[in-house]
Amino acid sequence: MPPLLRAHHEDTLPPQEVVNVFQRAFGKELYGSLEEVQSLVQKVKTDLYNRDYTAAFDDDTKRVAYCCRWSPARAVAYSSLFAQLQEVNQIVRWSAGDQRILCVGGGAGGELVALGSLFTPDRHTRIKSNNDMDEADRHILNVHLVDIFDWNNVVGRLTAQIEESWLYNGQSQYFNIQFTPNDVLKMDQNQLQLSRLNLITLLFTTNELFSEDKTGSIRFLQALSTYCQPGCHLLITESAGSYSHITVGSKKFPIQFLIDTILLGKRGGKRGEETHGRWALVNKTDSTWYRGDPDVDYPMKLENMRFFFRLYKKL
Ligand SMILES: C[S@@+](CC[C@H](N)C(=O)[O-])C[C@H]1O[C@@H](n2cnc3c(N)ncnc32)[C@H](O)[C@@H]1O
Repeated sequence: MPPLLRAHHEDTLPPQEVVNVFQRAFGKELYGSLEEVQSLVQKVKTDLYNRDYTAAFDDDTKRVAYCCRWSPARAVAYSSLFAQLQEVNQIVRWSAGDQRILCVGGGAGGELVALGSLFTPDRHTRIKSNNDMDEADRHILNVHLVDIFDWNNVVGRLTAQIEESWLYNGQSQYFNIQFTPNDVLKMDQNQLQLSRLNLITLLFTTNELFSEDKTGSIRFLQALSTYCQPGCHLLITESAGSYSHITVGSKKFPIQFLIDTILLGKRGGKRGEETHGRWALVNKTDSTWYRGDPDVDYPMKLENMRFFFRLYKKL
């Protein structure tokens, strides 16, 4: 995996079309009251800096402002990342039958729009091949977004826009979106349908989970190990660098070390033996850049992104 993602991966819709979904869904705010959005963004920024997530996301206008400011850049970066990772690309575009994706912390819509931009370009071939196939083999993508805050308004407006812009001609029956406002650490394996999932994403969310409840977060990752089916993939991204360091006892270390230990097992036990985990590491980087095309037109800043990622596969 190169340290620089492509600005546009050819399997996805172009970045401008990805960003346009946000412009259309939030046209009222972006073109009617941009100053108000900017001032809400400042408030959200301060709250996030103080890691006061409740204050940042406790009201709908702030959630819309957050989405307008940060999700378009995330969506173009994630489109490129999802397309570049062969296993994710396959699940989203072609794998036979019902494919189920759980996006933890996905309320702000970045993952949703990115999945849409990778799923929809093949609509003509897919509709044709789905029509020729037995019902059980039809490629249907079911996306379940779970978030502790109530992003219903944001998800609803983005979903409506994806349907209008990208899912015409009978394609919407193959792309199902469900949003559940709930604390993922308090949900059980049945609510999350863990045993039926093909892909779980934890994008820029693991740090928040660990800062809320370390023990609960470890228990959540262990539940993924217990209940996910073999072949299920898990994709984690977080900021590269010291922002993603975590303190356990008196030690501070990168959060990916802890995640690797939980999922992959410890290397070198008491007598040098290995304790094996339940996942295999398929792909990773400790620092990847997404630098967007500067010609993409959007009324707010589109950030470049630097992050690490891990892609695991359940054994
Ligand atoms: C930094 S944002 C990342 C948003 C999105 N995944 C992205 O990459 O653009 C973290 C998200 O995780 C959600 N979150 C935090 N704690 C959560 C929990 N316990 N259960 C579910 N979602 C949670 C927040 O509400 C927020 O939407």
